[in-house]
Amino acid sequence: MTGFQTFSDFVGLKGFLKTLSKDSTIGLVPTMGALHFGHISLIKRALKENDIVVVTLFVNPKQFNNTSDLSNYPRVPEEDIKLLDSFKRLCVCIPQEGDVYPENDPYQEVQLGLLDQVLEGEFRPGHFAGVAHVVHNLIRIIEPAKAYFGLKDAQQLAVINLMVNATRLPVDIIACETIRNSDGLALSSRNALLSKENIIDASVIYETLAFVKDNIRKIGAVEIKKKAIARFKNSNLKIEYIGLVNRDSFQPFTDGGEGGICCLAAYCNGVRLIDNVLF
Ligand code: PAF
Repeated sequence: MTGFQTFSDFVGLKGFLKTLSKDSTIGLVPTMGALHFGHISLIKRALKENDIVVVTLFVNPKQFNNTSDLSNYPRVPEEDIKLLDSFKRLCVCIPQEGDVYPENDPYQEVQLGLLDQVLEGEFRPGHFAGVAHVVHNLIRIIEPAKAYFGLKDAQQLAVINLMVNATRLPVDIIACETIRNSDGLALSSRNALLSKENIIDASVIYETLAFVKDNIRKIGAVEIKKKAIARFKNSNLKIEYIGLVNRDSFQPFTDGGEGGICCLAAYCNGVRLIDNVLF
């Protein structure tokens, strides 16, 4: 049984992984750090399903379309390590940009189509190209059997599935439930930037999503969207977008269809929060 290990580059990490028995399975949990219980739940699931789990902490500059968002992103590697150091069979790797994006970078850009144009794609140009690139390189370097991602970032998950299929990476992408606080707020590293009052204000997100889920089949997509927007007008949050789409294709949802998802992004005191509900 291996204990907890940390590595500051992939050479050390790969050297260690090579010492494991050949049939050991590796689970990968890519993160940008500032870990919370949402990440812990991904890690616990990965530990159940694999012999060894690698957690990467890397704030990926390529996925930030806004420089102040990148510089404000919380970075607390010592706290992250403290949160994880009691786990066994766990490796944490904190690579440098040059490790993730080497000079002879193997990534051949995948066209993301509609996923890059609607909802998050519309408001964060280049974001998903950066996510696809970093996740590709991490999977190619670490060679996990399975990689774990939260459903809170449902569109990101769709992008990653598309990239993995297009590049034929031999990995299973595992989608994990969104973890919420007792008021329904989805756990996110950005929540660390919210005050107690902001967190109370942000409850409009979950309440609105629950309202959409309960009522979409009764009043239809057009009406429900109007009502959802009205809820935000009466709140302290500023809605950026709210959209109802098919959860696989991200084409607009049509009434009577199956497999819908309602996704939204809203600013709470300048902090951008996203969430979604399946219906
Ligand atoms: O969801 C995240 O934290 C990031 O987008 C990811 C998947 C770690 C890629 O940088």
